[in-house]
Amino acid sequence: MKTAIITGASDGLGLKISEKLLKNGWKIIGLSRNKPNIDIEYIKTDLSKESDINNAINEIKRRYPIFHSLINCAGVMSVQKMKNLDYSEINNLFKINVLAPIKLISGLIENIKTNEADIVNVGSTVGFKAYEDQCAYGSSKWALRGVTENLQLELKGTKCRVIGFNPGGFKSKIFEKATGIKPNLDAFMEPEHLADLLVYILEMPKTLEVSQIIINRK
Ligand SMILES: NC(=O)c1ccc[n+]([C@@H]2O[C@H](COP(=O)([O-])OP(=O)(O)OC[C@H]3O[C@@H](n4cnc5c(N)ncnc54)[C@H](OP(=O)(O)O)[C@@H]3O)[C@@H](O)[C@H]2O)c1
Repeated sequence: MKTAIITGASDGLGLKISEKLLKNGWKIIGLSRNKPNIDIEYIKTDLSKESDINNAINEIKRRYPIFHSLINCAGVMSVQKMKNLDYSEINNLFKINVLAPIKLISGLIENIKTNEADIVNVGSTVGFKAYEDQCAYGSSKWALRGVTENLQLELKGTKCRVIGFNPGGFKSKIFEKATGIKPNLDAFMEPEHLADLLVYILEMPKTLEVSQIIINRK
């Protein structure tokens, strides 16, 4: 049985990926603040807190040392006018979107190498272009793309694949959570379809690495 560690398994895309992998026989270890409403293993983790990340790393090493994928999916958004950028909001966003994946990968790197495990970093199309009022969110996704490329270099010559998965807008509550505004998501992608694609990519032979993929909505 294959095992995946997934951050943000409690909602949105992370939840859909977890459901799809479960269906395909994978075991899932979810990291989030809220317990996912599906039958998976769970380590309560606030990814904005170093102590929680350290605890998750120790728990994974102790209880689940053999795993095949680490999927960094948790993320938060921020939509702010340039003149009103709020320092604590940016700080929190960078902790969750950038520092947490780096710290988690760093703490688990020996297991990742031994297990020949894959790493998936869920970025965004905003990591390739600019959006108005999304300076902090966008730059965090540009940074995550840098993390992905750095890891590809560091894990060159191993069987570990490092996959940058970059969707455009899909249906979730991320915008509403950030702004309190319920947007019209009719034209947005279905997270189920994105989860199907990621599972397909993960289950392809280990001789193929989808290094960066951009999924735009049509
Ligand atoms: N939705 C889009 O249009 C879109 C487009 C491109 C890329 N993305 C990216 O896709 C990923 C998933 O987004 P989504 O739309 O599915 O978001 P979502 O539905 O809001 O889910 C976000 C997940 O991140 C977790 N999370 C947030 N803050 C956390 C914290 N401090 N500690 C631990 N976990 C935390 C949440 O868990 P808890 O609240 O339980 O902690 C939740 O499981 C994100 O990286 C996002 O940037 C989204």
